[in-house]
Amino acid sequence: PAFTDYQAESATISQGLVESNHAGYTGTGFVNYDNVTGSYVQFTVSVTAAGNYPLTLRYANGTTIDRPMDITVNGSPAAPGLSFPGTGAWPTWVDKTITASLTAGTNTIRAAATTVNGGPNLDRLRVTAPSDSQPPTA
Ligand code: GCU
Repeated sequence: PAFTDYQAESATISQGLVESNHAGYTGTGFVNYDNVTGSYVQFTVSVTAAGNYPLTLRYANGTTIDRPMDITVNGSPAAPGLSFPGTGAWPTWVDKTITASLTAGTNTIRAAATTVNGGPNLDRLRVTAPSDSQPPTA
């Protein structure tokens, strides 16, 4: 497949709860981060080849206040303080994409809240094959 989805409700959760009270999520629910600094969701992602992979986090933030998170890959910063601004309502889900270097084999991708508001509600991580993001060659 061109991409693989990792559901937040199936990931490792530190200071957060799996909930399903806001419609529009994929899988069986989403993670409601505790409203504390450092709450996180951590995904274990395996890829066959090293490369720069688009990572898409699907989230909702029903407040008007940004909920930035540090995105780390294998413990190293990939997107420090990545912005997760308000989406208008809790059932309104939006994709946020970064590109990060993954190693062949198992990778640990963590999204950790950096403010006392905690993270947004997190639905899933989508890891896209690098070739999908490259333009066709002439
Ligand atoms: C509300 C909302 C939750 C959300 C929380 C928050 O309680 O229903 O889904 O996680 O606000 O502000 O984090």
